[in-house]
Amino acid sequence: MTELVTTARALVADGKGVLAADESTGTMDKRLTEVGVAATAESRRQFREIVVTTPGLGESISGVILFDETFRQKTSDGTPLPRAAEDAGILPGIKVDTGAKPLAMATDETVTEGLDGLRERLADYVGLGARFAKWRAVIRIGRQRPTTRCLRANAHALARYAALCQEAGVVPIVEPEVLMDGDHSLEHSEQVTGDALDHVFAELAGQGVLLEGIVLKPNMVLPGTDHPDQRDVAAVVTATLRCLRRHVPAAVPGIAFLSGGQGDEAATVHLDALNRAGPQPWRLTFSYGRALLSPALAAWAGREDQAPAAQRILAHRARCNGAAAMGRYSPELEERHEVTASA
Ligand code: 13P
Repeated sequence: MTELVTTARALVADGKGVLAADESTGTMDKRLTEVGVAATAESRRQFREIVVTTPGLGESISGVILFDETFRQKTSDGTPLPRAAEDAGILPGIKVDTGAKPLAMATDETVTEGLDGLRERLADYVGLGARFAKWRAVIRIGRQRPTTRCLRANAHALARYAALCQEAGVVPIVEPEVLMDGDHSLEHSEQVTGDALDHVFAELAGQGVLLEGIVLKPNMVLPGTDHPDQRDVAAVVTATLRCLRRHVPAAVPGIAFLSGGQGDEAATVHLDALNRAGPQPWRLTFSYGRALLSPALAAWAGREDQAPAAQRILAHRARCNGAAAMGRYSPELEERHEVTASA
């Protein structure tokens, strides 16, 4: 139990956040193809090696979430990738859900699967060095959606997963993601996010999960991407903090937001503004995937000679988000990088 609490706190330590590099094979192949790289186990491995061996990454990244395939791959000098992360001062984490599948008797809703055999899989991952895990539930806002059935099924699965993780000494990242897709308002997102969190914390309590030994990974409260009124940073901060304060117990050590398709600088600006709003019961940091990796992937695009440039870009975005996790980001940080990169 003490170890769980220590690991959870380390994941949300001052000025640090989590890097979500756990795209499943299909998603990673899509991202590689988009930048013109042939999708193979080797190109997936190459990009993850570039990520994990980025110089200085451990200064602002506390943990990296990897996918099963990556967890078993090695760097070009033969070091297992989870070990390479650990050598860089970054805790290795593993995505353990097996994806969002159509919810029975529902329209356009999913429930995340992966509980069968999870105890045995966790034992295997612990042997390979895993210290924390991730499970993502997906909630879509639409007409008559989400249903209570969808919220309950997803929250129950998240709680069963979290309990199995803690039994194995692994910190669960609990991720109920309310998607930005759609034309819903900021207020609608706040209401659905609050409902989803209520279901999650009721189920976590029901399964005896130690709240001090989890990290919550929610969406920020944002209007749908197709909503005509995109709202300013202050409105997003007010809605997000009100929602979290109403629905997340203070025993949770940290909240690490997903980026969810926000632009990379927007995700940094929002996190910074959330932290500038004053002290909260929990640490507020990031667990970004696309907002950290997209610019680095585009810079690399499969070209070996561009790997150092990709690493500089990743280290820079990680540093900016590390500053935002302390409420100390400023746009000048971006400019300083442009000067260094072109020097
Ligand atoms: P994004 O930051 O790209 O939303 O990814 C975070 C994540 O891990 C989603 O499960």
